[in-house]
Amino acid sequence: MSARTAPSHRNARTSGVSTDHHAGRRQALKDRFKADAGGRPWLALIFSGEERNLQVFTPDPTFYYLTGVESPNALLFLALTPRQDSEILLLPATDPAKERWTGKVLSSGGLTPDCLPDALRAEAGARTGVPSGSIGIFQQIEDVLVRPMREVDVVYMNFPEDTPPGQVGWVQHFADRLRASNPHLQFRHAARLAGDLRRVKEGGEIEKMRAAMAITDEAQRAVLGHLRPGMKEYEIQAIVEYTFMSLGAEHVAFPSIIGSGPYSCILHYDKNRRTTRRGDLVICDIGCRKDLYCADVTRTYPVSGKFTKRQRQVYDAVLAAQEAALGAAKPGVLVKDVHQAAADAISKAGFAPYFFHGTSHYLGIEAHDAGSYDLPLEPGTVITIEPGIYIAEEELGVRIEDDVLITRTGAERMTHAPRDAGEIEKLLGRPRKTLVV
Ligand code: GLY
Ligand code: MN
Ligand code: MN
Repeated sequence: MSARTAPSHRNARTSGVSTDHHAGRRQALKDRFKADAGGRPWLALIFSGEERNLQVFTPDPTFYYLTGVESPNALLFLALTPRQDSEILLLPATDPAKERWTGKVLSSGGLTPDCLPDALRAEAGARTGVPSGSIGIFQQIEDVLVRPMREVDVVYMNFPEDTPPGQVGWVQHFADRLRASNPHLQFRHAARLAGDLRRVKEGGEIEKMRAAMAITDEAQRAVLGHLRPGMKEYEIQAIVEYTFMSLGAEHVAFPSIIGSGPYSCILHYDKNRRTTRRGDLVICDIGCRKDLYCADVTRTYPVSGKFTKRQRQVYDAVLAAQEAALGAAKPGVLVKDVHQAAADAISKAGFAPYFFHGTSHYLGIEAHDAGSYDLPLEPGTVITIEPGIYIAEEELGVRIEDDVLITRTGAERMTHAPRDAGEIEKLLGRPRKTLVV
């Protein structure tokens, strides 16, 4: 948390990197828009997103990456036209009545009677690096847009994606209306260009990810301390999520996947309702979000405390595939090369038909983070390495997933939950704990 965070703004953390970083990211993205627009005037609209009743609000990751602001109903406006090179941040109006329901968020503040920024607006400026004279109230959006919309050829937007039909909100309606009333303009997705920036992490981001990963490792250790036959999958989930929150994570990065027996073969199983049995394997694919950055770690445990011979054979094949992929991960190679190394190892072990998903994804502000998979890995990219073998007819699924930082010379495994089969058995052989608290 940045030293400038006002204690009263409980829900309004900045991302903890200096405002220089945010300003630098905005400049880097502007440079990319400029190059992409090929000399034509452009503007960009990056919305923070909308709050939904009784749902946890998570800001649009690109908006957050560029501003460090977590407020809903906010907009970062960037433009380069013959008349202006601008950066404007519109924040939700300060609304004490609403704050009684949902708490304080970083808001626009206003102006003093002599037209200077009041304390809240000055704070928003200091925290984002956007000059307070360029901070306004979200309702000014039409005013901000009216002139530049007549001057540009290209509009970049972070269009809301994956919105279920019943939940289409005003951002989507606004985007649709803007597009329909300006058919002569080119609308382009801001996410691709922003994603390629977000793909390579800075030091401060990597530190936050390490914090999320350390908590997630600890949650895997907590499972090892409690696991016993007869536990419900959701009891395991409770231990995981209790550990997350008690160690300072704010959320899960994705729904916890606790799949035992037949459900060890369902890749994104998140019902977590089955009762585990002696002889099962249980996949724990979990990750917390801390300071908005994600971890994603999978371990597979024998519920009885001991792998059967067959389970151990499959487990060791997956571990060898993960090691092969780790060995292949380095600057200059593509994610598909890392995958190939894992796939070759699994084929060599005779399990080719049972490995049917990709090995890696980017990790960052999102569990499946932004960035092109056609670009070679470079120092600062963080990926998962998560091969698996799923033999449904034997109710036997194994996945092992770690988070990996690409360094100048190779790759560093950033997550360290027990992974070796012998060590897992040893830890499961200790007297089981029955209570978390
Ligand atoms: N936890 C989801 C994934 O590993 O992609
Ligand atoms: Mn995972
Ligand atoms: Mn993953």
